[in-house]
Amino acid sequence: MYNFTFQNPTKLVFGKGEIAQLSTLIPTEKKVMITFGGGSVKHNGVYEQVIAALKNHNYIEFWGIEPNPEVETVRKAVALGKENEIDFLLAVGGGSVLDGTKLIASALANPGIDPWDIVLQRRIETAISYASVMTLPATGSEMNCGSVISCREKKEKYAFSTTFPEFSILDPEVTYSLPANQIACGLADIFVHVAEQYMTTAGQSRIMDRWAEGVLQTVIEIAPKIKENQNDYDVMADYMLSATLALNSMISMGVTQDWATHMIGHELTALHGLTHGASLAIVYPGTLITLKEQKQSKILQYGERVLGITSGTESERINETISKTEAFFRSLGLATRLTEVGIGDETINLIAERFNKIGVAYGEGRNVTGDVAKQILLNCK
Ligand code: NZQ
Ligand code: ZN
Repeated sequence: MYNFTFQNPTKLVFGKGEIAQLSTLIPTEKKVMITFGGGSVKHNGVYEQVIAALKNHNYIEFWGIEPNPEVETVRKAVALGKENEIDFLLAVGGGSVLDGTKLIASALANPGIDPWDIVLQRRIETAISYASVMTLPATGSEMNCGSVISCREKKEKYAFSTTFPEFSILDPEVTYSLPANQIACGLADIFVHVAEQYMTTAGQSRIMDRWAEGVLQTVIEIAPKIKENQNDYDVMADYMLSATLALNSMISMGVTQDWATHMIGHELTALHGLTHGASLAIVYPGTLITLKEQKQSKILQYGERVLGITSGTESERINETISKTEAFFRSLGLATRLTEVGIGDETINLIAERFNKIGVAYGEGRNVTGDVAKQILLNCK
């Protein structure tokens, strides 16, 4: 196990009716801007609960943070925040609303820097206080310091890191209104978050491996139950908590990480608008096929412990494990091949070119260059 420092300051407030806690979680002297997406919260009762809880607060509303939040929208929110001397942001929505809010909070604390430059510098140390009411279990953004922002004009999508949310409220009942496709993409996102921190080199940490395998097993177990009944509170509670635990650094202490699939997936979204989880369901099987030798021992361990694959030669078990992983994504109702979503060689070459130009080297072995990314994408066709 490598040396590490772990600190996660976000307070999690979890359960039915907990949105009401907003009334005391945010000090009444704060000037609050509440940020929203496109309006889902007006159809599922979340908006009413937030407004009722903040009836004694001084707040304004900013609407329209889109899926794959765009820097152009963030700039408008920053201008409104400045004009109103906002000193607290509350994101109410999915990962996109929260990620956009993380950039708004960072830009309000650093008025001399354009928001896109904050993204490009990849890390900023200061942001004004912000918190969330998370309505979509997927990104883990509710308990991490990451944010992923797109620039529409340049067709680019990059991650940066900032401060953590002060608190996040997770009420599983808010997930009852999620469209089936968002749930499928959310489950795929959680699965691949775990994989990015787990499917690397074997033998680094027993405890991290068991945490990660526990989340993967949970996701595989609950996926069909959610399809059966999306209003089952306990199942949705496990879904919600799986998302948070998959990306709040609890499963990555002292171990190497991959993230190549995410970086390639972000390119597919930037260039073609694919939903984040949908991009991962396509890229991840290709990553496993391409890097199966490097990841051999871990794929075997995952196959045995998570999928119960114990018979056959090592090579047969690895191939079966990869097929079953792809089958899991398909069972969610997601496409797993680029051809199914109309993406071909032109995009594959462009992504390879972009990666080679920046000189990236992703993956736990720092060997996923543009050329390897191309190989991965060719294996996703
Ligand atoms: O915009 P509204 O109207 O609110 O509707 C949203 C949106 O259309 C809807 N939705 C959210 N909660 C709902 C709901 N509809 C009904 N009922 C509810 N309870 O769902 C749609 C998608 O929302 P979005 O926020 O885009 O989805 P998600 O949470 O999956 O976020 C995706 C973004 O997060 C980034 C992705 O790249 C993408 O940009 N990621 C952020 C990470 C992080 N901060 O750590 C890590 C991830 O790997 C990921 O890259
Ligand atoms: Zn993700």
